[in-house]
Amino acid sequence: MEQSWLIRDARIADAGRLRELGVAGWETTYAGFLRPENRRAYLAGPFWSVERLRALIAAHDCSTLVAETNDHVAGLLTLEPHPSGAIELTRFYVDPDERGRGLGAALWRHALAGRDAGDTPTILVNVFGDNHDGRRFYERLGFTLCEETTTTVGDQTVYDVWYRLVIDA
Ligand SMILES: CC(C)(COP(=O)(O)OP(=O)(O)OC[C@H]1O[C@@H](n2cnc3c(N)ncnc32)[C@H](O)[C@@H]1OP(=O)(O)O)[C@@H](O)C(=O)NCCC(=O)NCCS
Repeated sequence: MEQSWLIRDARIADAGRLRELGVAGWETTYAGFLRPENRRAYLAGPFWSVERLRALIAAHDCSTLVAETNDHVAGLLTLEPHPSGAIELTRFYVDPDERGRGLGAALWRHALAGRDAGDTPTILVNVFGDNHDGRRFYERLGFTLCEETTTTVGDQTVYDVWYRLVIDA
């Protein structure tokens, strides 16, 4: 069945809920390859802090979109400038109970529709290499693998990949 969501720019008051969605993503999808103490350590750091999320929502050069269903925020994505001049998709999380229903794809379509003519055509995204569902999702959106590397989370070194999408003019 076709579903619809209200997709809008995030508000400062959403920051706490965005953190909850990030924590839920880390505690479900990443539990298979990141040890609990390392997940906890990362979630206690700046990337998912409410302060960082508030700053991101307020920043003019970043974009934070949320999808609401039944009057609650069920998904988010964030776009930030990358030092290379590209845009980086830095967070993309859907409530575990709402996944697989097209909400992620709808958020992505909205983000693309909101681009300005002068925006850089290149979008990067960094994904844990063992996040097979997430990788399949990005590949479905047209992203292609551009780098395989490793990253450190707490005391673990894990497989890490970068994907790139170049938007046609
Ligand atoms: C990846 C994610 C944002 C996609 O959102 P979504 O609303 O589930 O996506 P859609 O319903 O539009 O598309 C579903 C597709 O996403 C992928 N997918 C990823 N995780 C999934 C899950 N838990 N359940 C179902 N599909 C999932 C599949 O490729 C699926 O394709 P399929 O229908 O052929 O199986 C979401 O699943 C999520 O939050 N995952 C955990 C966090 C994460 O991995 N984020 C990306 C890395 S930063």
